[in-house]
Amino acid sequence: MKPKPILRCWAEIDHRALRDNLSFIRKQIPPTTEVMGMVKANAYGHCSVAVAKTLRKEGVRWFGVASLAEALSLKEHGVQGKILILGAALIEEYPQIIRHQLIATISNFQEGKRLNEIAKRQRLKGIVHFKIDTGMGRLGGWWEVAEQELLQLSKLSHLEIGGIYTHFASADSDDAMTREQIKRFLNYRSWFEKRMVHASNSAGLLGKQSLSFDCIRPGISLYGYAPLQKEQKHLKPVLSWKTRVTAIHRVKKGRTLSYGGTYRVTKDSMIAVLAVGYADGYPRLLSNQGSVLIQGKRVPIRGRVTMDQILVDVTSIGKVSLGEEVILIGGSGKNQLLASELAEKTGTISYEILCGISDRVLRIHRHA
Ligand SMILES: Cc1ncc(COP(=O)(O)O)c(C=O)c1O
Repeated sequence: MKPKPILRCWAEIDHRALRDNLSFIRKQIPPTTEVMGMVKANAYGHCSVAVAKTLRKEGVRWFGVASLAEALSLKEHGVQGKILILGAALIEEYPQIIRHQLIATISNFQEGKRLNEIAKRQRLKGIVHFKIDTGMGRLGGWWEVAEQELLQLSKLSHLEIGGIYTHFASADSDDAMTREQIKRFLNYRSWFEKRMVHASNSAGLLGKQSLSFDCIRPGISLYGYAPLQKEQKHLKPVLSWKTRVTAIHRVKKGRTLSYGGTYRVTKDSMIAVLAVGYADGYPRLLSNQGSVLIQGKRVPIRGRVTMDQILVDVTSIGKVSLGEEVILIGGSGKNQLLASELAEKTGTISYEILCGISDRVLRIHRHA
């Protein structure tokens, strides 16, 4: 038997919370609308295979990934279901996309033509989703001219346009823009029939200003974070990030801590060393800014976050033991530290905090 790993710095993935978030999301949409689980970027740091398997058990039949490699990883690990590659594929990736019957996103006729040639050579039919750029300015055929592309694409012998979609640029901040994007998208109504039509990300779905069409594409909300603060109470953060106290030392008033001596101790203090650093994805911008939870109490980070270790002031806590568990993200009630709080302090979004948790951090899955 494999020995149990010694936990040093790890993330716990709560699959019950994931299932609960999925149920909440499903309550917002008609029962016939499919959910495409966004499991790209290793399911926002939560482990794409484990997350996809849980979602699959709950009846999710579609998964969204960023690239061929992410799609193949799901397949290799036995995840069943349809996989849409959301990113633009590289030309060298086309043969494998066709061979594995993955669904590519295409934005123009040229891409479709190339895929069609490869599908013909492989004596297969390629299935693609055509993306219409209604204002995101990233991928897709621009809404004013995409019809031309669709007309040409629909004549290709070995390619089927199985779906049509768009992506909202500001569903969390600009309702008028989202409505305009929907209007532009709806001009393609005549192409919707017998195709899977989808548009909404979490913000579009929770903001309810968008239509759910045949399918929605939630990501961050599945993982328990609401792009719109008022919805946060309905969602349960799925990931908790923990580490342990590896050393404790007394520091005299006047001494400085960590690289650059950016923090000077103002009174005799107890400083604990924790096994986490920026190599684990803990933001260096939290130097002298962040806090962690020990015994349910918040304690501040002192000095710079280093590659593998951080320092926290535990003077206010009676007794701290070596090996004691520390919460970096997680906890409950008033003593909760959310990824969104770390994000706010570092000028970013919860997505980046979650995706940034590195491979060095062991993922432990709890299914009960
Ligand atoms: C095309 C597309 N659809 C859906 C999503 C999911 O968005 P969210 O995590 O905000 O729900 C993303 C995420 O970046 C995306 O790029």
